[in-house]
This record gives sequence, C-alpha cells and structure tokens, in this order.
Amino acid sequence: MKFFIDTANIEQIREANSWGVLDGVTTNPSLAAREEGSYKKILEEIADIVDGSISAEVIAQDYDGMMKEAHELIEISDRIAVKIPLTKVGLKAIKSLSDEGVDVNTTLIFSPMQALLAAKAGASFVSPFVGRLDDISSMGMKVVQDIRTIFDNYGFDTEIIVASIRHPMHVYEAAMIGADIATIPFNVLEKLFNHPLTDIGIERFLSDWRRANKQF
Ligand code: G3P
Repeated sequence: MKFFIDTANIEQIREANSWGVLDGVTTNPSLAAREEGSYKKILEEIADIVDGSISAEVIAQDYDGMMKEAHELIEISDRIAVKIPLTKVGLKAIKSLSDEGVDVNTTLIFSPMQALLAAKAGASFVSPFVGRLDDISSMGMKVVQDIRTIFDNYGFDTEIIVASIRHPMHVYEAAMIGADIATIPFNVLEKLFNHPLTDIGIERFLSDWRRANKQF
C-alpha cells in the first residue's frame, strides 16, 4: 500500500518524507490556498523534495480551461498527476488527457459509479472522499470496498486513492480493503506511530538498563 501525504505544506512534506515511507503527495485548491506563494511554485518545491507522484488540481471548470491548466501543470514535473473533478466536462478532459498519456487523478468521487466512469475514461487514479461521506452519515469505506470489487471484476488498473482521511482507522480499513493508496493528512500520519505499549516498553527497557548499570 502506498502512502501519500495530503497537504501543500512544505515543512510537513519535508518531515514526512524524512521518515522514508512517503510515496507521493496530493494537493487541492483548499490546501494550496493555506500556503504562501503561487500554486506552481509550491508544486515545484514539492517535486524537488518527494520522488513520487504529485497530484495537482485544475481550477477551470470548462473543457478548454481544464486542458490548458493540465498542460501547464505537467510542465512542472513529469510526476504530476492532474486532478480533475468527476463532472460531465471533467470526464471528457479525463479521457483526452489519459489518451495523451497524462496521469489523471479523478477527484471528488463519492460513488462507485463515478469511479467506474473515471476508470473507463482511462484515469490513473480515483479518489473517493471517505471522511466527507462519513460526515453526512454515509459509509465512506463501503464506497471504497465497492470500487475495489468493481475494478477487480473487470481488471481495471486504475489505482484507488482513499482521500479525505480523518483518523488512523480510515488508513487501517483502506489497507484491509486493499486500496492501492491512502492519502493522509500530516496529523493522522503522526498518529499512526502511536501506541501506549510502545512508550511503556521503551521506558521499561531503559529503566531496567539503568538499574543494572550495564555497559553498551
Ligand atoms: O485531497 C482531498 C481530500 O483529502 C480532502 O479532505 O478533509 O477536506 O475532506 P477533506
């Protein structure tokens, strides 16, 4: 399972990358809006830090605008995956860009049928937003499970990025389902480390060592 970080914050990306388990980065307009500088500049910096896929989203909502912005984004790095929302216009852009060999990450996926449309159009990735579904009392992970089943039924190689992750159990469930990727906010990535028995264990090892006055 690949771990992406869901942020446009350079410090967080640098720190998570130093842990050695980061496979990519996803950004979106809301995440980029929180940071200083132009979107392109932020993406260039990210591409210098992380050796993996970097998702960058179009702002335009018309076909020509989406295509223009997509072509500008892929100029930044050949590891950019262009994020396009699953609308009728978006689907056309997904098909055109995929035919050109551009990686597309279809964003704002909330149903298995939206994911199937994106896969049929040739998208490299689909991003079901589990947290936002949970927020409205729908079962986000059931959507991921259904997408997994449908892609496996027909041999689609479109990768499932579980997005809108809110807590470690989302990551656990994504892994159990067999999602290809989890894109995880920094605060949730940090929580994956935590277990009280690990802290207690370290404390006990060190106090036993000190008590015995052992040499290393
Ligand atoms: O990258 C898109 C997605 O992860 C957004 O998450 O928390 O705004 O629903 P959230």
